[in-house]
Amino acid sequence: MASKIPLVQQCNGTKMQNIGLGTYTSLGGDCERSVKHAIDVGYRHFDTAYFYENEAEVGQAIHSKIAEGVIKREDVFVVSKLWCHFHEPEKVEYACKLTLKNFGLEYIDCYLMHWPYAYKFRGDEVMFPTNASGKVEMNDSVDYIETYKAMEKLVESGLVKSIGVSNFNIEQLKRLLKEVKIKPIHNQIECHPGLVQKELIEYCKSQGIVVTGYCPLGRPEPANKTPVYLFDGKLAEIGKKYNKSAAQVVLRYLLDIGIVPLPKSVTNKRIEENFNVFDFKLSGEDVKVIESYNVGERVIPMDHAKSSKYYPF
Ligand SMILES: NC(=O)c1ccc[n+]([C@@H]2O[C@H](COP(=O)([O-])OP(=O)(O)OC[C@H]3O[C@@H](n4cnc5c(N)ncnc54)[C@H](OP(=O)(O)O)[C@@H]3O)[C@@H](O)[C@H]2O)c1
Repeated sequence: MASKIPLVQQCNGTKMQNIGLGTYTSLGGDCERSVKHAIDVGYRHFDTAYFYENEAEVGQAIHSKIAEGVIKREDVFVVSKLWCHFHEPEKVEYACKLTLKNFGLEYIDCYLMHWPYAYKFRGDEVMFPTNASGKVEMNDSVDYIETYKAMEKLVESGLVKSIGVSNFNIEQLKRLLKEVKIKPIHNQIECHPGLVQKELIEYCKSQGIVVTGYCPLGRPEPANKTPVYLFDGKLAEIGKKYNKSAAQVVLRYLLDIGIVPLPKSVTNKRIEENFNVFDFKLSGEDVKVIESYNVGERVIPMDHAKSSKYYPF
């Protein structure tokens, strides 16, 4: 199966599998088991972050599969992210080394700046530092350009093979591209039928920046029947024509608009289902139906960070 998955060209000359396994909220044994299953299914691209507190389990799954002879280290593309409390330039290498230690790896394939804004540092484990009134303590004295320049040094020292960003808007990308030496290989953004962000995608493409898409399924909540496009029956009906589910229709659509989707699942059957999207083609009529859901609604608005001058939305 793995050999059939298209690869995407990246601006540093490397290639990566055109779909990745998301791992936010995959924890402990569930995380390790599901990453191992994904490797057996053929996934070779894994998305995690210091913030997800599961780098050790993702790393353990990779080590097990290397020991079993299923993969070699160079077969997998491992992405992790610098969290907002580590933005001060002098903390960046320290943060990256914590991540490498968690993974038990010698290098990360791609290290992203998780958000363009920073928080105050109150300890490695304090990911949302709050003041006496319970508000998250933003730290606008750190400009993401300075953080990124410290990340460039990680490429130079070999701790990471490449760097990129996440949740950057067009203006922030333009400013970054003017100031830095190493182009970000990715901008990881929220992308699903309810929030397509075509202008941002087009801008990234024009700069050779690969767009990876988070919440590709809109982070479904079956009890609330949200997002509507997964539960109102229209995409399920489209899927029937191709013997696919509504979720597979969504992933196919995202691939077709040039996104590398990162569906998360700890369920074996869904891990397989989400990977099985490379053998059908949506019609123009189908695409129109999917596009009718693009109302610009965010799953992750990060409202607490609105006061920051670096808030991207
Ligand atoms: N850069 C950022 O700021 C950022 C932000 C958010 C997320 N991310 C990354 O993007 C990844 C994906 O986003 P996400 O996890 O928020 O949302 P998502 O992938 O849209 O949705 C995950 C949810 O969908 C369920 N699911 C998976 N496949 C399904 C299918 N075929 N049919 C029905 N339900 C299915 C999963 O359930 P089960 O697990 O129970 O199967 C889980 O509850 C994250 O895991 C993370 O790696 C990045």
